[in-house]
Amino acid sequence: MDLHGSVLRQLKSRREGFSLAQPFYIDPDYFKLDMEMIWYRDWLFIGHDCEVPRAGNYFTAQIGDYPVVVVRGKDGAIRAFHNTCRHRGHRVCTSDRGASAKLVCPYHQWTYDLDGSLVFARQMGETFDKSEFGLKSVHCESVGGYIFVCLADDAPDFAPVRATIEPYLKPHRLWEAKVAHRSTIIEKGNWKLVWENNRECYHCAGNHPELCRTYPEAPTATGVQGAKDDPFITAHWARCEGAGLPSEFRMDPTGQFRVARMPLIQEAESYTLSGKPAVRRPLSADVPISHVGTMLLFHYPTTWNHILGDHAISFRVLPLSAEETAVTTTWLVNKDAVEGVDYDLDELTHVWTMTNDQDRAIVEENAFGIRSPAYEPGPYSLEHEGGVMQFVEWYSNFMVNRLQGDKARLSAVA
Ligand code: FES
Ligand SMILES: [Fe+2]
Repeated sequence: MDLHGSVLRQLKSRREGFSLAQPFYIDPDYFKLDMEMIWYRDWLFIGHDCEVPRAGNYFTAQIGDYPVVVVRGKDGAIRAFHNTCRHRGHRVCTSDRGASAKLVCPYHQWTYDLDGSLVFARQMGETFDKSEFGLKSVHCESVGGYIFVCLADDAPDFAPVRATIEPYLKPHRLWEAKVAHRSTIIEKGNWKLVWENNRECYHCAGNHPELCRTYPEAPTATGVQGAKDDPFITAHWARCEGAGLPSEFRMDPTGQFRVARMPLIQEAESYTLSGKPAVRRPLSADVPISHVGTMLLFHYPTTWNHILGDHAISFRVLPLSAEETAVTTTWLVNKDAVEGVDYDLDELTHVWTMTNDQDRAIVEENAFGIRSPAYEPGPYSLEHEGGVMQFVEWYSNFMVNRLQGDKARLSAVA
């Protein structure tokens, strides 16, 4: 069967405003196509600059079939490499994270410099040319404290992402923040279900009692339409922009990423049960006012974020299989904030730990129901699920473009 052709046909004839057909959520072949067309070819948020503060600090990640290592070099630059040894392929860095003056493969101790070049390979003979066997590099960009990587040989232009999100991120100084906590949960559902759930707050009132104390469930906050007509939001933008904080809603023309600074409910300043800041030290000295709400950033397919006055929370989505997705949440605070003095870790993490678990349960039940032969695509709420429709439309257009582009390329070769 021509999988490409049939996926293309299904996406082109899909009913707009409705959820996707069953195989998009459960079929391993469709999943493989998602990985090839999107995950192995586009920019992916992978972690934060402050996770590798010094030369030799590294962390690893698994993107589908590709193990990757991100490392800070002696020159201060952050680079990413395929974490597969150029000798016989053993993983060079086998821990989640660490610090090392050189990257040494545990199998036969081939040794790589932090810039990926091979500097030592024992007894390989006189004619062996080390310069031919450096670690393969992965495209890597750092913007406002966020590290993005791209596995493709030719990466799409990163400049539009940087131009849009950098001014919004900059005042928060996240490149020098401190990781207060990190958690990874596995959700038994397709990565698109994780996103669909994230892109609406239609489910919030019934599922997130803790989050709803401070986060508005209004679709103008979470979604993609109507914010400009909401006087509560436009007043917030005017106040924040007056203080030098870019705030207005901005969406990339392709719909792949957007930024906007949204107010929280009433006088709330943070995601705590009281609404009061969880961290006594503000996150950044460059944010001159209080009550800045939350700076929302999403970038498909890997990340959504909340950046508040006292802390920031990033979310990283990595698919494990057609029906399993890893979601890593990272809580960032001011680098000088001391646990137990400036913040209580349980208080800082409580609301989103609960919210994440509630979302995991929702995604898993959603996946459960979709597995039924009786499942058929259902209608999204125009009022509440504009964000979900936008995500599905982005996914669908993106896949159609890639599939058609590949077809054109192949026929040009044939
Ligand atoms: S596989 Fe890495 S040194 Fe042999
Ligand atoms: Fe949720």
